[in-house]
Amino acid sequence: MVLYALFSLCLLALSHRVTAAPHSHSSLKSPIRTTYQFPNETWIENIAVRSSGQLLVTIITSPDLYQVDPFSSAPASLVHSFPHAQSTLGITEVQPDIFAVIVGNWSFDTFSSINGSYSLWKVDLRPAIPNPVVTKITDIPEASFLNGLTLVAPLSPYVLASDSILGVVWRINYHTGEYKIVLENTLMTPAPGQEFELGINGVHTRKGYLYFTNSFQFIFARVPISLEGTAIGLYEVVANTGLSDDFAFDKDGNAYIAQDPGGALEQVTPDGKVTVLAGGTNSTILEGDTSAAFGRTRLDDNTLYVVTNGGIAGHPAGSPIVGGKVLAVNIPELLKQH
Ligand SMILES: *[C@@H]1O[C@H](CO)[C@@H](O)[C@H](O)[C@H]1NC(C)=O
Ligand SMILES: *[C@@H]1O[C@H](CO)[C@@H](O)[C@H](O)[C@H]1NC(C)=O
Ligand SMILES: *[C@@H]1O[C@H](CO)[C@@H](O)[C@H](O)[C@H]1NC(C)=O
Ligand SMILES: *[C@@H]1O[C@H](CO)[C@@H](O)[C@H](O)[C@H]1NC(C)=O
Repeated sequence: MVLYALFSLCLLALSHRVTAAPHSHSSLKSPIRTTYQFPNETWIENIAVRSSGQLLVTIITSPDLYQVDPFSSAPASLVHSFPHAQSTLGITEVQPDIFAVIVGNWSFDTFSSINGSYSLWKVDLRPAIPNPVVTKITDIPEASFLNGLTLVAPLSPYVLASDSILGVVWRINYHTGEYKIVLENTLMTPAPGQEFELGINGVHTRKGYLYFTNSFQFIFARVPISLEGTAIGLYEVVANTGLSDDFAFDKDGNAYIAQDPGGALEQVTPDGKVTVLAGGTNSTILEGDTSAAFGRTRLDDNTLYVVTNGGIAGHPAGSPIVGGKVLAVNIPELLKQH
């Protein structure tokens, strides 16, 4: 028994090391590679890409913001650890190399969000790491579970944050800290009778619309918005997507939706056609995928960086939970397989 356990542990360590090797250019040329893997029980929640190509990732299981270099095998570097908090969540660029970040308490012990723990911060990376200028924009004590984050429009003073429990969208002026609820709709509320109280999740603006997923209503939806972030038209379901977390758009307006705890990556075309590109509930290839963002340099603008929680929230029977990963997904290569 002990020997067997030792043997499996060795196997585990071995496979762990092999899959964790950053930039292992395998001869199989898989369209999905591991760029970086964090230690076990690290749940990566969100990702933003700097114009330099460096990746910023937030962690729901610790109050930390990390930078990952997709062009080297260097370990992730800690950008900032936020005080009096347990988690970092949504992140979005508000001005060139200045990012807004949601900070709060999501409890790993109870697997739930703590009311009244949320705040929005500004991380100014212009003076360059390792000396970012980090300031609090405001506390938002009335929020229940701030999750996704997006800028209303380029040059706008407003960001929009999804509240996954209240089922609303908060607007925050990142200059003044003034905030209020601007969007409320049944398509944003948690679905009744689900294990997790989790409604609207990822939010991103594109061409005058706010697009959003609702995790347990299993939809991808949108609403046209004003420059004030208010609704100026009807809410509509774009597609029935199944379990849906955060997502990213390509240049043509196709959305790529991470599906934690479903473990798949889906493409939704502008006219609502859904294709599962890779992964699934019984696959570990994209296990625990929480969010995605495209590269921003000539070298990687076809690469979708997908971040994962390593399966903490759900994983195929018999496969272990692993550390959260940053995966590089070659979208043109993956699309060729469909
Ligand atoms: C948090 O706030 C929500 C909405 O007001 C409420 O339904 C929930 O019971 C609160 N949870 C706790 C632990 O206070
Ligand atoms: C959030 O967590 C931090 C660190 O554990 C703690 O100091 C703080 O009181 C918590 N906030 C709330 C509202 O529970
Ligand atoms: C996953 O595996 C389980 C158990 O083998 C099976 O019942 C289920 O149908 C599979 N799901 C999919 C989507 O293939
Ligand atoms: C990671 O931690 C989980 C507990 O959360 C444990 O079940 C699992 O075996 C660990 N995985 C590895 C690779 O050590």
